[in-house]
Amino acid sequence: MTEVNKNELSWDEWDELHNPPPAVTDFDRVVEKAISRRGFLGGILAVGSAAAAMGTLGNLMSSTSAQAQEAASRFAFKPIAIQTDATVHVPEGYSWKPLAKWGQPLFSNVSDIDPVNGVSLENSDKVFGENTDGMELFLIGDRQVIAVNHEYVNNKTNLPNNADGMPMSADDVRILQNLQGVTVMEVAEGENGWEIVLDSPFNRRIHHNTPMKLSGPAAGSDLVKTAADPAGVDCLGTFNNCGAGKTPWGTYLTCEENFNGYFGTTNAEFQMPDDYKRYGIVAETRYAYEKFDERFDVAKNPNEPRRAGYVVEIDPSDASSTPIKRTALGRFKHENAAVTIARDGRVVVYMGDDERGEFLYKFISNGIYVPGGDTSKLLDEGTLYVAKFSDDGAGEWLALTPETTGMKADEIAVFTRQAASKVGATTMDRPEWVAVNPVAVEAYCCLTNNSRRGEIKDGKLRTNAGGDEMAVNAVNPREKNEYGQIVRWYPANDDHTDSKFNWDLFVMAGNPVVHQDAYAGSSNINEGNMFNSPDGMMFDSTGLVWIQTDGEDSNEGDFAGQGNNQMLAGDPVTGRIERFLTGPKGSEVTGLTWSADKRTMFAGIQHPDAPFPDGEGKLPRSTVVAIKRDDNALIG
Ligand code: FEO
Ligand code: CA
Ligand code: CA
Repeated sequence: MTEVNKNELSWDEWDELHNPPPAVTDFDRVVEKAISRRGFLGGILAVGSAAAAMGTLGNLMSSTSAQAQEAASRFAFKPIAIQTDATVHVPEGYSWKPLAKWGQPLFSNVSDIDPVNGVSLENSDKVFGENTDGMELFLIGDRQVIAVNHEYVNNKTNLPNNADGMPMSADDVRILQNLQGVTVMEVAEGENGWEIVLDSPFNRRIHHNTPMKLSGPAAGSDLVKTAADPAGVDCLGTFNNCGAGKTPWGTYLTCEENFNGYFGTTNAEFQMPDDYKRYGIVAETRYAYEKFDERFDVAKNPNEPRRAGYVVEIDPSDASSTPIKRTALGRFKHENAAVTIARDGRVVVYMGDDERGEFLYKFISNGIYVPGGDTSKLLDEGTLYVAKFSDDGAGEWLALTPETTGMKADEIAVFTRQAASKVGATTMDRPEWVAVNPVAVEAYCCLTNNSRRGEIKDGKLRTNAGGDEMAVNAVNPREKNEYGQIVRWYPANDDHTDSKFNWDLFVMAGNPVVHQDAYAGSSNINEGNMFNSPDGMMFDSTGLVWIQTDGEDSNEGDFAGQGNNQMLAGDPVTGRIERFLTGPKGSEVTGLTWSADKRTMFAGIQHPDAPFPDGEGKLPRSTVVAIKRDDNALIG
């Protein structure tokens, strides 16, 4: 055995050395079977070989790789190679151009970002925010309006004159608060390509102090009342806006993910309420709002963090409208909200909770959607469900009700994770975006990775923060899963409201050059299309699924040959996946929408390290880019 220098070990490595996992784990058995199936069954398992090894083949099998090879290609582009450089690459015959950059004005009397001093307080709620994420385009009359999330800020780039970028005043806090949230902006295509329409009446910034309403089961509950809002219905701000969604009635859904990071306290005496632990609310925060804005001091306002972590509905057609927090959709680290209308007209919203070992959810409205009818209660009145995946390829949606959980309706809405734990939901490998196929009754969820899946610590299996075990299972088949997978489910009776479903793995990401076991990925992964950590995901109108990654871009070791983060297109019918775009070094690719005529695709580039998009010597700026075919043909 090699000599180990204990001083160089990370905590995890040290822990592993002192608490070695059992000699033979479920994972070893999975891998052994997976390898033999890869070897003997060849193309039969396009995907999910390890999952199949857990028990059955039939239900878990996706399309065959042989079919994939033979099928006529539905890809209109020539796939591109990986890149490790500082810019965006798209296939031959396509080109891209920036549409909106962090700090770019939405109004004509506002200046662009100062590369030395950042955005001024005065301008900070009138410019495009930082760290673009989920987005949707709305056709409002003949105007095209994009609503787009700004997930978080990098302190140091926004407060460049402060040590470590930490706020030194209430004004500093206000700058950070203003640069997050949501931008609503009109866009138009002219001689210079797509541009923001300055001063459009649709242009609007929604941020951490924008007035909003709480609606649904938590509205008016004692759990959300504060001194400033004794009725528990009027709150301020939306936080850590990650993925998004769009309703058929023309509203935008922005999803609050890591909201916990904004609420803390310097009061060492304060006893954190028990429910904080499950959501990761701790005293010290990344932004230090609590030092200058007492709304964020949980010792003074312990219910304030219970007013965040929701899906928020925004009307992009009215810049004076009040956003509404739809608490019936639950409180957790919401990734996105994929809306579909079931056969009987009820509204179904699929949602992931992005944390190791947390769950996948579905909401079904009580009422039905009638075009032109009253939609105001559709996302308030209904039932929330959580997914349970069986190893035989079946699955079930478990209702979260007072009867099933022993909790009151407002408690289920506010402490949704705890409710889901009570009914025995399946712990997942970090559910990120869900996407619903518009041309088939099926939905997909990116399970981005889970370094703790199947890990043994102190002689026990790792758990989520609620104590639910994260054993290797068929839908999360790899221990210490560093690559991620995409699960797909088929609702029973072709009905998204049905409580039963079957599922398979559309893809297991991996590295077939470095590994020959389950970490090689499923057989629709090869040296030419490999990636890690699928995250953003959207279907285009033709039924191709676009996959965006937020992973390890070192291009070394287990990730050698995978390059920068990227966007790929997948064909649900054949399982084939091809690379369409590569992002600049350090960035993740996240957020995707299309122009009304489908001749332009808009994609988000978040947190580039490199001087993107303006080149050497310029500030790295999170940017939405517009991508077109040079022949102006349809692009989705
Ligand atoms: Fe904001 Fe889970 O990504
Ligand atoms: Ca994400
Ligand atoms: Ca991610």
